[in-house]
Amino acid sequence: MTHPTVPNSGQPPKGCFITGTDTGVGKTVVTGVVGLALKDFGLRVGVMKPIETGTACDNPQHTSDGERLRDLLIPHESLDFISPYRFESSLAPLAAAQWAGTPIDLARITAAFQVMATRYAYLLVEGVGGVMVPLSDKQDVRAMMAQLKLPCLVVGRATLGSVNHTLLTLAALKEYRLKVLAVVVNETQKSRASEKERGQTDSTMQLLRELSGVPVIGPVRYEEELHNNWARGLTTLVSDPSVKELVMMLRKDAQ
Ligand SMILES: Nc1ncnc2c1ncn2[C@@H]1O[C@H](COP(=O)(O)OP(=O)(O)OP(=O)(O)O)[C@@H](O)[C@H]1O
Ligand SMILES: [Mg+2]
Repeated sequence: MTHPTVPNSGQPPKGCFITGTDTGVGKTVVTGVVGLALKDFGLRVGVMKPIETGTACDNPQHTSDGERLRDLLIPHESLDFISPYRFESSLAPLAAAQWAGTPIDLARITAAFQVMATRYAYLLVEGVGGVMVPLSDKQDVRAMMAQLKLPCLVVGRATLGSVNHTLLTLAALKEYRLKVLAVVVNETQKSRASEKERGQTDSTMQLLRELSGVPVIGPVRYEEELHNNWARGLTTLVSDPSVKELVMMLRKDAQ
């Protein structure tokens, strides 16, 4: 590990924790697109994925979230600070940590975060799975969020079951008094755009706006290019109206 190069101003670190209703909902996509957009505005954006599992994928095309986000936003940064815990096994964090014989210590994550906060003006931190994923016998992802003291975004879907998953996630965050900036509804699947499917999305958006008690942004559109060329797909997605709305909100929060 190298040492911090820029002294901290003494202000609490600014940034945002990107969590979600589940694994695979688009946390990395949202982190990446928001990071690109904020960078375009001249903000010194850093990124972290403190806990990552499944890093030893046999597929040479496979890139971990931490590596992808580093390559996209901060290519010269050390992965040691971006992802203090990288587990090779494709298991849930606690099982992966037990398998590796390396318990997850939140103090190590906080230490890396503090170093990153000296280097970047705004930190985007991607969670792992959902908010109640256990990290140790006593702590789950919410404990990590509380340690980092960042407000969060909750990424969710608009498909069947999403209202329930999103409201349960918000209730779990409330127990820890964690500040939620917004729910971000993301389209991870190509919509066949039938009237019924549009109805499902519209109904999810409306119900979440009525019931969640926080701003609801979206739906962030499905972007096919993400599956051919991830970075190019994100560059295209920056112009999505929902992404623009989200970025405006984060810019205000970053000031
Ligand atoms: N708006 C979108 N348009 C098209 N594909 C998307 C979109 N959002 C996410 N995806 C795709 O869905 C998959 C899951 O997205 P992503 O990796 O961002 O989820 P995640 O919540 O970060 O998952 P994990 O829990 O593994 O970290 C990826 O293949 C991604 O490219
Ligand atoms: Mg991810």
